[in-house]
Parts: sequence; C-alpha cells; structure tokens
Amino acid sequence: MLNVTSHRAILIRGGRIIDPGLRRDETADLAVVEGRIAAAAPQAAQVIDAAGLIVCPGLMDIHVHLREPGHAHKETIASGTAAAAAGGFTFVACMPNTNPAIDEPQVVRWVIEEAARVGHCTVGPVAAITRGRAGKQLTDFPALREAGAVAFSDDGVGVEDDVVMRAAFESASRTGAVLIQHCEFNTISAGGVMHLGEVSRRLGLPGLDPRSEEAMIERDLDLCRATGGRYHVAHISTRRAVELVRAAKAEGLPVTAEVTPHHLILTHEACGAADPNSKMHPPLRTTNDVQACREGLQDGTIDCVATDHAPHAASEKARGFLTAPPGVVGLETAVGVTAKAIPEAATADWSALIRWFTVNPARVLSLACPHTDVGSFANLTLLDARERWTVDSASFLSQARNTPFQSWELPVRAVGTVVGEQVRLSIPG
Ligand code: DOR
Repeated sequence: MLNVTSHRAILIRGGRIIDPGLRRDETADLAVVEGRIAAAAPQAAQVIDAAGLIVCPGLMDIHVHLREPGHAHKETIASGTAAAAAGGFTFVACMPNTNPAIDEPQVVRWVIEEAARVGHCTVGPVAAITRGRAGKQLTDFPALREAGAVAFSDDGVGVEDDVVMRAAFESASRTGAVLIQHCEFNTISAGGVMHLGEVSRRLGLPGLDPRSEEAMIERDLDLCRATGGRYHVAHISTRRAVELVRAAKAEGLPVTAEVTPHHLILTHEACGAADPNSKMHPPLRTTNDVQACREGLQDGTIDCVATDHAPHAASEKARGFLTAPPGVVGLETAVGVTAKAIPEAATADWSALIRWFTVNPARVLSLACPHTDVGSFANLTLLDARERWTVDSASFLSQARNTPFQSWELPVRAVGTVVGEQVRLSIPG
C-alpha cells in the first residue's frame, strides 16, 4: 500500500544523505519547505524519521511498460506508477508498444496528462521510431519531441530495415533525441523463446541466437558513426554486446547502454522448469554473459540499470512457456535485486549503485538529475538496507504478478519518495 500525503513543510530526520552528483555522503536532517530543499524546517513540519535509512535523489527508470493506452488489463498508468513509487522511482520513461502505439503527438500528450492526473511519479513517454512500430515509415520526430517525448524506440521489436534506421539516426541527430534500440533481428532470432544453448536443447524449446542482438548493435554502431546520432542499447544481455559498446565508447561514439536487474542475476538455467516468469526478450543468457553485464556496469560500459518492467495478465502467462508473452515485472524489486547481484555496490559506499539509478539514466535522456542541495526542487527516495526482506508478489502495487523473484530475500528496499510537497510511504503488507 502507498500512503500518500502532502505537506507544506517536511523534516526528513537523521538519514544518511547520499547524493553522488554532489559527492555528498553524510548523516543529516533534510528540510523541505514548499516543495524545495531548505536550510531548516519550521516547528510545524511533518517529521519523517529516517534514522538508519538512506536518503538519495529520486530514482529514475528509463525503460518501463505502463501498457496504456490499450492494454489496461495488464497494467495502467495508475498501477504502474504506484509500483514505481513503491520501488523508489520518481521518474519512469514508458515504452510505446501500446494500442495505439505512442506514435502521434496526441498520444504523447495523453500519456503525460493521464500521468499528471492519476500517476504516482513523473512519466516521460518514449515515442515510436516508426509508425505503428511497423519498421517502415518514420514518425514525426520534431512534433513528438515538441509534444514531450523523451526519446524514440520501437521497443518490443528492433528496427530491422537499414534505410529506415539510417533515416532515424539522421532525424535523431537533427532533433538531439536519443534512439533506444531493442536489439534483435527477427530473421536471426527466428521464433526462439529462450537463449539458444544447452538449456534450450535440454528442454526442447526453440533457441534464440544471441547473434540477433549483437548483429543489430554492430549495424547500428556503423550508422551511429556515419550520422552522429545518439544511440542507446536497451536491455543489453551478451558478453559480445558489452564488448561492442565498450569499443564504441573508446572510439568516442555517442553510445550508452542499460541492463536489467534480471540480466544481472539470472541465467538460462532459471528457465529449467519452463516457468513463463523466466521468459523475456532478450532472454536470460549464460553465466559468462551475466558476468560480462556485471563487469560492464561496474566499469562504466553500461551506464544504468533499467527494469524493462513488463507486466502481463496471469491468464496470459498461464499459456505456458512456448506461447506466453515475454517479459517480467521489475519496478518493486529493482534496487534489491541489483544490490543482491552486485553486493560490493551496496555495502559501505552506495554511490555506484545510486548512480546507476539516478545521475546516469538522467544523462542518457539528457534530463536534469534531482539533487539534495538547498534550493533544489525536492525529489528524493528513501531506502532501507537494515534488514533483508522477502518478495511477495501478492503485495505488489503493480497489477501484474509475473516476477521471477517470488520469495527471494533481498538486501534493500525502497520505503518512500518525497516529490515537492508530496510524501509517498510504502506500507509493507
Ligand atoms: O520481454 C519483453 N517484454 N521484452 C520486450 O522488449 C517487450 C516487453 C513487453 O512489452 O512485454
């Protein structure tokens, strides 16, 4: 449950304030007056006891499926943003594989207005690269930007056609927007439902060749080099893909990448029982790939963690591994799973982990990152790392339950957000 209240003055008392962008790490009170960080709070301020908690800039997730318009049986903007707030996020970018797709300015505007009306965090719509995400005809980038699109992607599918993708890069470089590519050539993945390897062979399930991801990244890096457009690899998942991005960055190309929490901790062995909650695109890979994703995140090749929160109805996942839609929810477990995957980032010095969820995703989308200095608009997340907690999907605020982490013990959880005058505290239960 989320407890939502509003206060003219708030005193967040005694938390450990960690703000990597300001190189700040200290235990102190934080006052918020009329929605801004203030030097002191008046006597009458609403007090939040943050002793033992981490107080950091509001977390940002640049890859989320909120499913509206069109798929409200899976998730709504209200339920998806409630899940985001429960997971500590104060900003999410939502993907355009909706019905209709987010490919017209009026759909962008509708998402922003609906989020302002019913949402629990800020929502930045990602507009489609091509009309209807059909891969053929470019959308109107300037008009979509003007309407409020924060980036462009056909997520769920990659843009396969070279000519179309080159035109997308050219348009992106003119408008300053970033292209977020779902890297997958369907011709290569050829209907695969899980990683092509020993587990897929053992289960007798069609395997998805990792070259479908790597070949698209290679093609796109050539186009990036030729056009200068900004390029972001969504949900990176293979060692070779990480190496390609590392080399592109060394070359100076304007390239960034994200990894999901599940690709940092699960391998294709998790599909062993053919549980549809371990099916997603890209699929879970090998231990070697997982290790490469962790290394890439830690050495800065991969910029940020993004959930690819992909809610589906229980009846859809119940169809079985072969035909269930791909995707898992992630907002409410993201910080805990990431901390479990890379424990060294979640012990004494939390700044790396917090960067992956704040400064770095903000930079990918060229958005301002919230800060904790006096005068800044209040945009904060409270994290509790004092004791482990057990994931119970029945208590998710997301409408969906398709998590591979049911009953997992995680080392940290978000307990609240403060945005302007609004306080959202998650009440476990
Ligand atoms: O597993 C996935 N599910 N990958 C995607 O790219 C799309 C997503 C969805 O929309 O369900």
